[in-house]
Amino acid sequence: MSSASPAFPQRFLTGITTTGAPHLGNFVGSIRPSVAASRLPGVQSFYFLADYHALIKCDEPARIQRSTREIAASWLAAGLDPERVTFYRQSDVPEITELTWLLTCVTGKGVLNCAHAYKAAVDKNQASGNDPDADVTAGLFMYPVLMGADILMFKAHKVPVGRDQIQHIEMARDMAQRFNHLYGEHLVLPEAVIEESVALLPGLDGRKMSKSYDNTIPLFTPREPLRKLIAGILTDSRAPGEPKEVEGSALFQIYQAFASAPETAALRQAYADGIAWGDAKQLLFERIEQEVAPMRERYQALLNDPAHIEALLQAGAEKARKVATPLMRELRYAVGLRTLGGLPAAAVKTKAARTAAPAFKQYREKDGKFYFKLLDADARLLLQSQGFDSPRDAALAISSLQQEGSVALAALQGKVAATQGVTASELDAALQFFAPAGP
Ligand code: TRP
Repeated sequence: MSSASPAFPQRFLTGITTTGAPHLGNFVGSIRPSVAASRLPGVQSFYFLADYHALIKCDEPARIQRSTREIAASWLAAGLDPERVTFYRQSDVPEITELTWLLTCVTGKGVLNCAHAYKAAVDKNQASGNDPDADVTAGLFMYPVLMGADILMFKAHKVPVGRDQIQHIEMARDMAQRFNHLYGEHLVLPEAVIEESVALLPGLDGRKMSKSYDNTIPLFTPREPLRKLIAGILTDSRAPGEPKEVEGSALFQIYQAFASAPETAALRQAYADGIAWGDAKQLLFERIEQEVAPMRERYQALLNDPAHIEALLQAGAEKARKVATPLMRELRYAVGLRTLGGLPAAAVKTKAARTAAPAFKQYREKDGKFYFKLLDADARLLLQSQGFDSPRDAALAISSLQQEGSVALAALQGKVAATQGVTASELDAALQFFAPAGP
């Protein structure tokens, strides 16, 4: 959390399953709008490569690695700015699997029985007379819990997803609710954001562009092969000079997804005027090439420098873990996974023994003034206040730190100082413990 961001930005989080390379439909429907959304002010975005999820579908290590590299390079090439967003690889954040277990323990098995992907597998087995769970891994069964951990780990408010994922978000909500009910208000209940307006791009044959129809145009197809693919888009048999319908024309729809409104209007007119299909295809090729060529260049450069991608992901993981580590510590404590830390059994009920968590301490000095300090979970001094004239003033300052986190420090300048050597992120992490969504 940078101190420049507002106290409680809306947090958006999206996972990208690392299978295969993206096509134009993925670009128009998901990558482009997500990258645009990540640039909006007042939002904090988390984008991650869901490689733990990829393991559920793929047991080829080389493919898992290649896919991760390609998907990461695609999003970066499309303009995702790792300085602005937190862009990381799921498996670099081990707290996610740790949280998965805590959530597993509050999730009804019966709920998971109803998950679409699992149910579809069972239905298929039953239809073919097999054992219902034939070839179903526990990974597939647990998919929604892992996804819940992805979301709840970062206290995401909004999760932009396709319709097929709504059920998963609802399950994550239920997990959060159940956890909070049992252990106190620790987790944020997420909401799905369905992008209704997202255009479904048609593929080469006019059906929805999808790998399962084998009708895709891969996003980073090189120039000449791209021209050939576009030449293969299905059209009707109207001759040059004959007016053409834009309605139902895959070529027109794809053009529209890339062109400005005036450009689209111009093509509409050209259709009415009887443009030859060959010429329309050339227009489409040039329009796509104009948008894709610079990205393709960045994509190739990134693929040729995997160490650079790796460094970006490592930096992203570090950012992500600044959120995940303190929350996981809090959750472990909440469920009772606590240090016994040399405490005599008899002392367990004392206040000191219970606070393996950051804490504010208020006190009065001989000068008659009222002070406070912030200690971290190991009782290390993080913040020290100056003397306040009344206990109420001290309490107000504490309250603003608890409510707003590090953001409140600016207003308290001269009244509160961080200990030498304490980093902003350590301070952030400790203060986050008191945030309203926390305990
Ligand atoms: N299941 C999502 C999909 O197939 C990918 C995903 C994994 C995800 N974890 C997530 C999406 C968390 C949103 C939030 O598209």
